[in-house]
Amino acid sequence: MTDSPAKRSVVVLAGGISHEREVSLRSGRRVADSLMARGHRVTMREPDSTLLSFLEDASPDLVWPALHGASGEDGSLRALLSAQGIAYVGSESASAQLAWHKPTAKVLVSRAGFATPESITLPRETFRELGASQVLDGVLKHLGTPVVVKPAMGGSAQGVTVVENDVDLPRAVVDAYTYGETALIEQKIVGTEISIGVLDTGAGAFALPAVEIVPRSGVYSYEARYNAGETEFFTPARLEDDWAEAAAHAALSIHQTLGLRHLSRIDLIIDDSGIPWFLEANVMPGLTETSLVPLAIVADGLSLGSVYEQLGELAIRDSRHSESD
Ligand SMILES: Nc1ncnc2c1ncn2[C@@H]1O[C@H](COP(=O)(O)OP(=O)(O)O)[C@@H](O)[C@H]1O
Ligand SMILES: [Mg+2]
Repeated sequence: MTDSPAKRSVVVLAGGISHEREVSLRSGRRVADSLMARGHRVTMREPDSTLLSFLEDASPDLVWPALHGASGEDGSLRALLSAQGIAYVGSESASAQLAWHKPTAKVLVSRAGFATPESITLPRETFRELGASQVLDGVLKHLGTPVVVKPAMGGSAQGVTVVENDVDLPRAVVDAYTYGETALIEQKIVGTEISIGVLDTGAGAFALPAVEIVPRSGVYSYEARYNAGETEFFTPARLEDDWAEAAAHAALSIHQTLGLRHLSRIDLIIDDSGIPWFLEANVMPGLTETSLVPLAIVADGLSLGSVYEQLGELAIRDSRHSESD
C-alpha cells in the first residue's frame, strides 16, 4: 500500500431496480464524492441494459458497486464483472449469494458455532400446498411468539414485521411475500441491537467499533434508518468489554465463515447474558449519510475517502492475482 495511490478511473454503480434503489443512489453519491475529492476520475452509472457494453468499452480500473438489494448483493452482477475481468470492490459472487440468502447464511453461521435465532423458512408454495392455517399452527407450535417475519432475501427492514401476538402472524407473512417468494420466521431476540462493519483495507480483515442502534420508535424500520434523528446511535456500543470483544470476534469470524471480502456488515443482537445472536450479513452495507459503516469508520479515526480508496486498491490487486492464477 502506498501513501498516495495512482489516480484511478472508477465507475460507481448505484440505483438499479431493487427495493433499495433510493438508498443505493445515496450510498453511491457519497462514495463517488469521497473518491473524486481524492482526485480519482469517477463516473456514476445505473446497472441497466447498456452497462456491460459500457464497461467493456470504458475498461475502468475499478468498479465500485454501491448497490443494495438483488443484483448488487445476490452475486449475479459480481459474477458478470468477474467474467469480464473487471476489478470490483466487495465480495465475490459465490459468497455474496450465500450471505444474501438469510436462511443459508444462518445455517452456515450456526454450523460455525455461533448463535442465530431459531427459525422456519417457508416458500409461498408451502402455504398453497399444505394450507395456510395448518402451516401457521405448525410455526406457532415450534416458535411461539414473539417472532420476527422477514423476506428470506432483502434489506433496509423492508417487509420485516415484529409479531408479538399469534393473531398478527398471517398478516406479517403476507407482507413478507410482497418482497419475495420465501419468508423467514424467527424467534425474536430481546437485547441490545448492534451492527459491526468488517473491513479489509489491505492488511487483513478487522472489525470496526460496534454501533449500537436505539430507534426512537423501538423498531429499526426503514423510516428509522433513513430519517436523521429517528434513531440514536452509540459508537462504540455501550457493552461490557468482554461482551464487546465477543461480538467483534463473532462478526469477524462470520465474515470469514461466509467467505466475504473487503467489507461487510454483520447485524447482531446481544442478549442479557452477553450472547451475540446473528441476524444477517450485508454484502454491500449502506454507505449513506445516516448509515452505520461510515459512522463506525469515522469513529475509528479513519477517513471515508481514504478507506474507500484503499478498498479500491485492494480490489485491483485481488483482481490481478485472480488473473494470474
Ligand atoms: N430475530 C430478531 N429478533 C429481534 N429483532 C429482529 C430480529 N430479526 C430482525 N430484527 C429487527 O429487524 C431489523 C431488520 O432485520 P434484518 O434481519 O437485519 O434485515 P434487513 O436486511 O432488512 O436489515 C433488525 O435491524 C432488527 O431491528
Ligand atoms: Mg439488517
